[in-house]
Amino acid sequence: MPLMEWSDQLSVGVGQFDREHRVMVDMINELFDAVQAGRGREALGLVLDHLLDYTKTHMIKEEQILEKHGYPDLAAHRLEHKAVGRQILEIRQRYEAGATGPMCMEVLTLMRKWLIEHIQGTDKQYQSFLNARGLH
Ligand SMILES: [Fe+2]
Repeated sequence: MPLMEWSDQLSVGVGQFDREHRVMVDMINELFDAVQAGRGREALGLVLDHLLDYTKTHMIKEEQILEKHGYPDLAAHRLEHKAVGRQILEIRQRYEAGATGPMCMEVLTLMRKWLIEHIQGTDKQYQSFLNARGLH
């Protein structure tokens, strides 16, 4: 059973970003499934690689579109992106250094927190701004 399901509550009202955010839900479920199957530690390396790549690409796209349209809260939005990027990188470095402990749970918690606090909070705030500029 998946840990998270996509729902309209997660929608930020812009199709491109919703599609990209769904990838995050998929990654959470992939890691959760691996943990349940007892292969969390092996899966974590791939998930972290994917997550680093994904966050970088997705955040740049989001920031570029917000910048193009002159979004007034871009600086604060960027800071949140940077903070999570740093957290993921830091976890990746610990993983590579052979850290043990509940790293899968740490990553799952971070990703869920990101979905709830950033996507449903900070990202959601650009919906009416971008919708008003023709982005749906
Ligand atoms: Fe964002």
